[in-house]
Amino acid sequence: MKHWTKSSWKKYSTHQQPEWPDENKYKKIINEISTYPPLIFDKEAELLKKYLADASEGKNFVIQGGDCAETFIDFNSKSIHDKLKILLQMSVIIAHGASSNVIRIGRIAGQFAKPRSSKSEMRGNTSLPSYRGDAINDIAYDETSRTPNPDRIIKAYHQSAATLNLLRAFTNGGFTDLSKIKEWNENFINNSNTEEKYDEIVKKINESVKFFETIGGYNSNQNMPFKMAEFFTSHEALLLDYESALTHKNNITNKWYCCSAHFLWVGNRTRNIDGSHIEFLRGIGNPIGIKISSSMKTEELLNICNKLNPQNEKGKLTLISRMGSKKINTYLPSLINAIQKEGINVLWMCDPMHGNTYKLKSGYKTRDFDTIMNELESFFSIHHNLGTIPGGIHLEFTGEHVTECLGGTDNIIDNDLRTQYATACDPRLNINQSLELAYRITKLLIKNKENNNV
Ligand code: PEP
Ligand code: CO
Repeated sequence: MKHWTKSSWKKYSTHQQPEWPDENKYKKIINEISTYPPLIFDKEAELLKKYLADASEGKNFVIQGGDCAETFIDFNSKSIHDKLKILLQMSVIIAHGASSNVIRIGRIAGQFAKPRSSKSEMRGNTSLPSYRGDAINDIAYDETSRTPNPDRIIKAYHQSAATLNLLRAFTNGGFTDLSKIKEWNENFINNSNTEEKYDEIVKKINESVKFFETIGGYNSNQNMPFKMAEFFTSHEALLLDYESALTHKNNITNKWYCCSAHFLWVGNRTRNIDGSHIEFLRGIGNPIGIKISSSMKTEELLNICNKLNPQNEKGKLTLISRMGSKKINTYLPSLINAIQKEGINVLWMCDPMHGNTYKLKSGYKTRDFDTIMNELESFFSIHHNLGTIPGGIHLEFTGEHVTECLGGTDNIIDNDLRTQYATACDPRLNINQSLELAYRITKLLIKNKENNNV
């Protein structure tokens, strides 16, 4: 790797970093974090890369999702459990309905830093620094809360570690085994229509599990072969000091890995080719995502791909398009064509959330379920028309009954938003909306498969 070190990014312009009031204290904390143990193991990142390579060839389908911003306040066993359950349920719906193997990547155990459109937030006559995620400042609107405080980075590290620990316990302890499928839904879904559809799948899967147990091909004690256990973590690699503090070299392979999460992505606001985020990411062995809005130019995308993945390694790059339902048809096809023409290996994913956010008169930021679906439908049909693979989705959802996005099976309307609007940043799909989306994606995958067989 040419002239790369884990701090070579410092020579480049760095966007979206907080202004720390006490630089010395901040540096001390970053030094301390660099002595902390890694959160993930490089072999896990390599394994995920292999799964993503398979997804880019249509052999797996990826669901990446979770909170827009994790918070310190929402930190308990139930909330982690619920986030895992929603990912498992969506996976089972898609895996069962579309006969696709599903790979789960949570926006979890590290999603604590947010890029913002504006450095400050005005309320009345006062202006305070914008909320930048719990690793940096507090969402409460007062001067102390909004002042960046590096102690919070340490707290974010420990919360990530504890979250990951519980996720590993759930997955290794058998909770993710398909024979536990009924338990994933206890007191969870609260929409009778969604529940009925889900129960139907549970019944069918239970019959299959029983059948395999009967003929001796399945042993739930060994968690084989129906384990949905594998689970990966991800977040936006925004706070580069933190990410590089957790970057370690494997002394056998001589490769560097950022050990804060398995998968890291560069956000739409920091993906400029000459910036420090791309410089940092080009040196690590983890699989990497690049968020792409309609402003991404073809030449720029090709250059970013070459810089991040000069060996054209499969599974290394995931392009996450987040164009918005109105723009995707105009802007995505030419990018896909160019990538195809150059023979660049990528996995295409769709984030139907971030290009479809708007503010209502009531002041709530929201997204419409139907618009989200429209973007996904376009994503699938564009890929079908070009003969390429729609390999996954990137979502913001929660395992709670929030009212943040409009529409869906519960038909949430503007007036309902105030009932349970709990996000610290962008509006998330609730349980019923997420499961409904999984059913609809299943249909799109089936349609794609049928079309491809014609
Ligand atoms: C996000 O994923 O929360 C986000 C800020 O996305 P983007 O960079 O695509 O705007
Ligand atoms: Co977001």
